[in-house]
Amino acid sequence: MDQAQFAARYGPWALIAGASEGTGAEFARQLAGIGFHLILVARREAPLAALAGELRGKGATCITASIDLAGPDATQRLLDAAAGREVGLLILNAGADPNGAMFLDGAIDAWDRLAARNVLTTMRALHAFAAPMKARGRGGLIVVGSGACYGGLPGIGVYAASKAFDLVLCEALWAELEPHGVDVLSYVIGRTDTPAHRELLEARGMSVPEGLADAAQVARLGLARLPFGPVCNWGEADDEPGMSATSAAQRRERIRRIAAISAAYSAPAALGRTDR
Ligand SMILES: NC(=O)c1ccc[n+]([C@@H]2O[C@H](COP(=O)([O-])OP(=O)(O)OC[C@H]3O[C@@H](n4cnc5c(N)ncnc54)[C@H](OP(=O)(O)O)[C@@H]3O)[C@@H](O)[C@H]2O)c1
Repeated sequence: MDQAQFAARYGPWALIAGASEGTGAEFARQLAGIGFHLILVARREAPLAALAGELRGKGATCITASIDLAGPDATQRLLDAAAGREVGLLILNAGADPNGAMFLDGAIDAWDRLAARNVLTTMRALHAFAAPMKARGRGGLIVVGSGACYGGLPGIGVYAASKAFDLVLCEALWAELEPHGVDVLSYVIGRTDTPAHRELLEARGMSVPEGLADAAQVARLGLARLPFGPVCNWGEADDEPGMSATSAAQRRERIRRIAAISAAYSAPAALGRTDR
């Protein structure tokens, strides 16, 4: 798909949640470079304004919105920011764990906020923004994930579980929306050189390790793989198992095989009997 085809399929507006730095800012720069209009969302206004200024200086149209994605009203505020603009591409990038603690050592409020942002807001935003895409018969949804989605590990339990939720939801949506022209990608990335990651390393007294992925390269691959969902594992070929026991291609094949068998279960006539 060339740039014009990409813009026609996923434009004219992209909303990036978690846009102000790292991979989110790189998504924004690359999309602005191919003519997208941008809605840039994060909590801190100053970095958002700086990025918006940079992009406008290169001729892009963009607006910013300071929204806490862990808030109960986050999705409504995203919709308010979009204000009826035709959002053809939604990128949910914010999602790192700023806590870095064993489950019982972390305050439950911190885990609540992590789950609210990564699970509830992700689910609600996908629901809200996918519906008009489905009606239009085109669009794209990218949820930035983590290799942590493939299993529990000490110190990142809630984070890993939230990323597993996002992965599984994206896989289901990919299968549901593919017939309607909407592409869904769970973009599973590994350790990447972002300000948030550097802050976490510094807070732990750790040095920056060799081999962190470059945020611009990560964003470039994510956009390129959007038409080839439901999963892209950074650093792995489509048919290569690495972070998980199954490759992206094997996961895609599992969905196609089982969805065909179980399609009748999700037909409208099968709904009901919810209040036994
Ligand atoms: N960096 C890595 O090594 C790594 C590895 C695996 C996966 N990932 C995934 O990659 C994505 C990006 O990670 P990252 O390292 O750049 O850190 P991040 O903290 O998830 O993302 C940074 C962006 O998200 C915004 N953000 C964070 N929490 C927010 C909230 N509650 N409401 C609104 N905006 C929020 C930040 O701006 P504000 O702080 O101003 O809100 C910033 O723009 C995440 O989904 C993460 O799980 C990263």
